[in-house]
Amino acid sequence: METQDRLEKICNALDDGLITSSSISLRTGIPARTVRRYLEKIKNDGYEIHGKTPDDYDEDGEATIDYLLDRQNKHDKLLEKEQNQIVNLSGDKPISVTLFSDIHWGNAHVDYRALVRDTNMVRDEEGAYAFCLGDLGDNWVGKLGGIAAEQEVSILQEKSGIRWWLEQLSGKLPVVVSGNHDNRTKYLAHVDYVQDMCRGMNLLYGTDQVMFTLKLGEGSWKWKCRHQFKGNSQWNETHAIERDGKLYEGFDFGAHGHFHKPTIIRPYYQQLLRRVCYACNIGTYKKSDDFAIRIGQTPHHTEYTATVIYYPDGRCIVPNGTTLEDNLRFLRWTRENF
Ligand SMILES: [Fe+2]
Ligand SMILES: [Fe+2]
Repeated sequence: METQDRLEKICNALDDGLITSSSISLRTGIPARTVRRYLEKIKNDGYEIHGKTPDDYDEDGEATIDYLLDRQNKHDKLLEKEQNQIVNLSGDKPISVTLFSDIHWGNAHVDYRALVRDTNMVRDEEGAYAFCLGDLGDNWVGKLGGIAAEQEVSILQEKSGIRWWLEQLSGKLPVVVSGNHDNRTKYLAHVDYVQDMCRGMNLLYGTDQVMFTLKLGEGSWKWKCRHQFKGNSQWNETHAIERDGKLYEGFDFGAHGHFHKPTIIRPYYQQLLRRVCYACNIGTYKKSDDFAIRIGQTPHHTEYTATVIYYPDGRCIVPNGTTLEDNLRFLRWTRENF
């Protein structure tokens, strides 16, 4: 309500003989506290003003609640979608899912030869798919902006690398989660470049996590992908995932990256689902890490990815310690012989 409108309503109420702030508030719908302020003004001020007053900056409560009710519809729809997420793979042959994480595009110490090799292998292999677990770029912004100057490429070139990678795996990449490096821009300036780059692509996306059911033929497996899980332990690389799986949500396969330690998949018993499930920590494509050394962490060289093979009859094979090349060679063989 405009200042002038309020003033007019209060003056009308006074003309009608109302004198207390509560009775005027009841008549006009203006809060009693505000009425008291106006009464003071009318009584004391020896001048008039025309223009923008502090009250003019107020938001209209009714308009705000209408807007929020409308926005709630959008959030309810998002929540509903989030709770029923499915990646339904077609075909009657086995498929593979390769997990990529912590590529850190643009960093001077990334093993680009291995990255391009692995990307091309998944791109060119029939039945091979990939999920991305975040830290696509280094994204040194904000208080860490100075580190960008130590890199071989500009941030724009870094982004072009991410775009190249997403394009290579287009149609093979049904799940993307952002990492803490990617999310820096989002939390600093509400710019989510991963969402921007993925717009129009056929994939499930989350800034923090993606939970979904993976389906192939008669097979169905619950997945939870995050960049990192809460409650990590420096003594046990998959502790945080197992803790989450045991305490909160049952899933057959939980995976994260972030810690830049060698890729490992660990089976563990999950009471909620009453079966053996898997927790997977994916390594990084960085061969060394100046920033990790600077803050006192030990960087690890790693075998980069992990791959799971799924069968349409519900079986799955979870190889540990094998190379991507061997995993895809096995996929080819098992597809031919299935
Ligand atoms: Fe990372
Ligand atoms: Fe990270």
